[in-house]
Amino acid sequence: MSTSNRQDFTDALERWNERFALPGYLFGLEPNAFLVKQSARLRPGSRVLCVADGEGRNSTFLAATGHAVTAFDLSPVAVEKARALAAQRGLEVDFNVAGTDTWEWAAERFDAVAAIFIQFAAPTQRQALFAGMWRTLRQGGLLLLQGYTPKQLEYRTGGPDKLDHLYTAELLRELLPQAQWLELTEHEAVLAEGNGHHGRSALIDAVARKG
Ligand SMILES: C[S@@+](CC[C@H](N)C(=O)[O-])C[C@H]1O[C@@H](n2cnc3c(N)ncnc32)[C@H](O)[C@@H]1O
Repeated sequence: MSTSNRQDFTDALERWNERFALPGYLFGLEPNAFLVKQSARLRPGSRVLCVADGEGRNSTFLAATGHAVTAFDLSPVAVEKARALAAQRGLEVDFNVAGTDTWEWAAERFDAVAAIFIQFAAPTQRQALFAGMWRTLRQGGLLLLQGYTPKQLEYRTGGPDKLDHLYTAELLRELLPQAQWLELTEHEAVLAEGNGHHGRSALIDAVARKG
């Protein structure tokens, strides 16, 4: 890791730890609505990886609906809260503290990858992140992704304030040229996900099948 990359990593870690150290759940306790809807596509007992899972609202939902869930996040503070949430709900999730750069993207390991608001990645980091998520899916597996589009900069109701971190359908097609797109829709909706994502939002919903 170069010195400037190491500094970026340390800054991000401190920033997210501070946000998650506040009382309560930054993105609420309810799972992301797009994930709830799209998880109907998963077979019972699917092996699912939750990337940058935060405080566990999505991983615990998937575990509660009978899937075998692995999750990781950069922030140990968030993962601790996610572990507490799973314990309180009597659920098992394989939680890990890791960054997308250090996570081992084992090939063909998961039936689905959940990537809900993972727009911390700058363009230089994003290529490897998407390659990793694709590699870890088995043939026929699904990537379930929701993020913000550039129009979100007008709303500022969540997400990064950097244009080059935001997604368009065209960008996602470029990042995953082999994908079969079951859904790839830019749209607007009102989100109520804790204090983190709140209000009118410019979103992109994507479901990509491998093979
Ligand atoms: C907007 S939050 C979304 C959290 C979760 N997916 C959700 O929907 O509740 C972004 C998450 O990315 C995590 N994160 C930031 N940089 C990361 C990195 N390099 N690797 C892994 N996680 C990272 C943060 O700690 C935070 O939990």
